[in-house]
Amino acid sequence: MPELNSTLPAWAAVAAHAQTMKGKHLRELTAADPQRWEKLHVEYDSWLLDISRQRITQETLGLLLDLARATNLSERITEMFRGDPINVTEGRAVLHTALRSDFAGGKAIQAEVHESRKKLSEFVAAVRRGEKRGTTGKKFKHVINIGIGGSDLGPLLVCEALHHEWSGGITPHFVSNVDRTQLEDLTRTLDPAETLIIVCSKTFVTMETQANANAARAWMVGALGEKSPGIHFVAVSTNAAAMDAFGIAKSHRFAMWDWVGGRYSVWSAIGLVAELVIGSEKFGDFLSGASDIDNHFKTTPFEKNLPVLMGLMAAWNRTFLGLPTLAVLPYDQRLARLPAYLQQLEMESNGKSVSLVGERVDFPTAPVVWGEPGSNSQHSFFQMLHQGTPTAALDFIAPLRGSWGGTEGQDLALQNCLAQSQAFAFGHTLDEVDADLKKAGTTQKEIARVRNHKVHEGNRPSSLLMYPQTTARTLGGLLALYEHSVFVQGTLWGINSFDQFGVELGKKLALGIDMTGKTAPTGQGAAGLAELIGYVKGHR
Ligand code: F6P
Repeated sequence: MPELNSTLPAWAAVAAHAQTMKGKHLRELTAADPQRWEKLHVEYDSWLLDISRQRITQETLGLLLDLARATNLSERITEMFRGDPINVTEGRAVLHTALRSDFAGGKAIQAEVHESRKKLSEFVAAVRRGEKRGTTGKKFKHVINIGIGGSDLGPLLVCEALHHEWSGGITPHFVSNVDRTQLEDLTRTLDPAETLIIVCSKTFVTMETQANANAARAWMVGALGEKSPGIHFVAVSTNAAAMDAFGIAKSHRFAMWDWVGGRYSVWSAIGLVAELVIGSEKFGDFLSGASDIDNHFKTTPFEKNLPVLMGLMAAWNRTFLGLPTLAVLPYDQRLARLPAYLQQLEMESNGKSVSLVGERVDFPTAPVVWGEPGSNSQHSFFQMLHQGTPTAALDFIAPLRGSWGGTEGQDLALQNCLAQSQAFAFGHTLDEVDADLKKAGTTQKEIARVRNHKVHEGNRPSSLLMYPQTTARTLGGLLALYEHSVFVQGTLWGINSFDQFGVELGKKLALGIDMTGKTAPTGQGAAGLAELIGYVKGHR
């Protein structure tokens, strides 16, 4: 039986090297090599990945590349694109790449994808042109996407990130949370006669989506009658029986497949809301941007391969340097939801502690992923990142121009982004603090009082990813870069990045809880639970 990847000699070599590197400061590493930036950045097409502020040397990179080879990364990439059942626990292929790249998956899968894309673009054109209308004859001006997790975060990110590409007079809205707030807000303001509702749910059994879809259906029927759901609802799912039961018209159903995971599904019909809002041509650009990165990932030597290097840096920081979190810091307000999207992508994919062969791993896997756009984040949590006790790994993401094409505001954003990455790397020593204070005419007594508080230790590692501008094409590329980075990390760790059993237990327990209190809870902790349910009832 194959053993954990941590038993590989290449792993031991990286781990031993990490012990040396833990004692090194980025100041020292940078001073030691004037060519450092030249050596530790990679350009591909219009992408730039700068890893010169990571706590690495060329030796580190070499050892990590050896580890990638020792874990058969090349073969694993081939298997994924070929459609082998690499999601071993569920016995499924992993072919989200086939949704955007004609070299992924076999002929049969490509044919299905083409058919699905054709149906989607015909539907999108009919809605945008006003050929497909609501029951009263009004044009659809609003689309509500009801879905959660991968059936929400991807389409939401695409719509927000490409706000400047909206056309066709359709406004997107999103309902995901089970607490009904989002739907309440919408049903109070939207006209149902000009609203199209997409129920996005691969399984069509997800509690949140079912509850929201049923409530939305009641709203629609109340306003426009029993027949309206057949016209105002569409669905994206693999579950035909459940769509029958809900009353989704056959022509309003869009295909999903078990070889596309929820968090990898924005490229499929799950992206319909975005396609309605930006049009099929732009959505095609989104797909082709991702396809370009698929090709790059598949064909480029690891040394120059952006997602491989991103994955290596992530695993290095988490597993070998022991950094517990990754802060995602896009310097583009358009990407405000990127951290939330990457939380699911990275943490649902690699938040695992059992290896592909069923053994508990003896090393840390996925970090906690979090973040907010710069420069706002500088004025909230950067204090902790600079001077707090835990060290986070940092991903700076920065387009060269604002999404509208201008540079003025973006120059200020970039100025901040670069300054922050320098400050994180090199810090501000006690000597520098003293010199600054002296120069400002501060008294010795005052210097003694504040000097320690002003030190920035630095040595906070970061990557910087730059690209020309947030467009449909670059957004597709950006998401594909992270998808493949997640795959690289999963391969190094020897875990299955494509299942998500960890979300099931809570769902099951929720089904056994009756908030009316009529059925008493059972199982572990039942007494405490009964008290809490009683408390809710008694205090409303
Ligand atoms: O609970 C987690 C999850 O299964 C995600 O993986 C998925 O993206 C989300 O729920 C939604 O699932 P569905 O599309 O089947 O409603």
